[in-house]
Amino acid sequence: MYKELQGINSRPAPFQFYTADELWTTEHTSKQMLEYHLNGDIDFSSKNSGFIEDAIEWMTSHFNINEKTTIADFGCGPGLYTTKLAEKGAAVTGIDFSERSLQYAKQIAEKKKLDINYIQANYLDFETDQKFDLITIIMCDFCALSPHQRNILLKKFNVMLKPHGSILFDVFSFNGFEQREESARYELNQLNSFWSAEDYYCFVNTFKYDTEKVILDKYSIIEKSQTRTVYNWLQYFSKGSLRKELENAGLSLKQLYGDVRGNPYNPDSEEFAIVASIG
Ligand SMILES: C[S@@+](CC[C@H](N)C(=O)[O-])C[C@H]1O[C@@H](n2cnc3c(N)ncnc32)[C@H](O)[C@@H]1O
Repeated sequence: MYKELQGINSRPAPFQFYTADELWTTEHTSKQMLEYHLNGDIDFSSKNSGFIEDAIEWMTSHFNINEKTTIADFGCGPGLYTTKLAEKGAAVTGIDFSERSLQYAKQIAEKKKLDINYIQANYLDFETDQKFDLITIIMCDFCALSPHQRNILLKKFNVMLKPHGSILFDVFSFNGFEQREESARYELNQLNSFWSAEDYYCFVNTFKYDTEKVILDKYSIIEKSQTRTVYNWLQYFSKGSLRKELENAGLSLKQLYGDVRGNPYNPDSEEFAIVASIG
């Protein structure tokens, strides 16, 4: 027991393990996640529906989205953005590794007679010869990736972008990092049975990595029949640290915003959004 508790409470190296698929694609968690996505009143796996409406309107006018626009949405989930962007006339590609979310997205596209290209893939492996006017990755999903994975993704964006195209994404800020505290707790059926239909005990260890500005929420899920660990990494950024990552991938930071609705940048906020382009 002592040894097991030691393991549960141990701090891995930043981004040592990547378990995003456990969070998004298993039979049980993908179902919970889809329910959260589709609950338009909360900001959990997607922003609330009012936020998304505002984001679409801002994106449409800011990037002049019309019938000639090509868009790729990385981590599109159940298509809350892709559907609306396609309704604006754009040719949209949505990439996600959640079969359940894509099934939902495809059903909606079929119902609305929208021709959206949905691709089930790990976006880190996704390749295409197509070029896009706009590439998005929304809801701070960029922050869940290691520095190496982020570099792979940004280089991919560079190759997939048209010469005057734009990338839009949101991230957690250094100020958000300051708000987080280290903690350790455990609970029966933590997060309303999010991790399993069977009873389980879940230890949640939150670790702060001050130098790297990384948070780890480590979930050790103990069921009768199995024990597993899910690592939810969050990288926090300053303008400067994000600019540097973009430059390392041949991209430059063009505009800073408070969020993907185009609200003004606020240095005190826990999140911000950026528009980047090639060069
Ligand atoms: C926080 S949700 C945001 C969904 C959508 N962008 C939104 O705001 O409604 C992150 C999405 O990214 C997907 N995802 C996470 N990591 C991925 C990966 N490596 N490859 C493909 N999809 C991934 C998840 O399945 C999930 O649908």
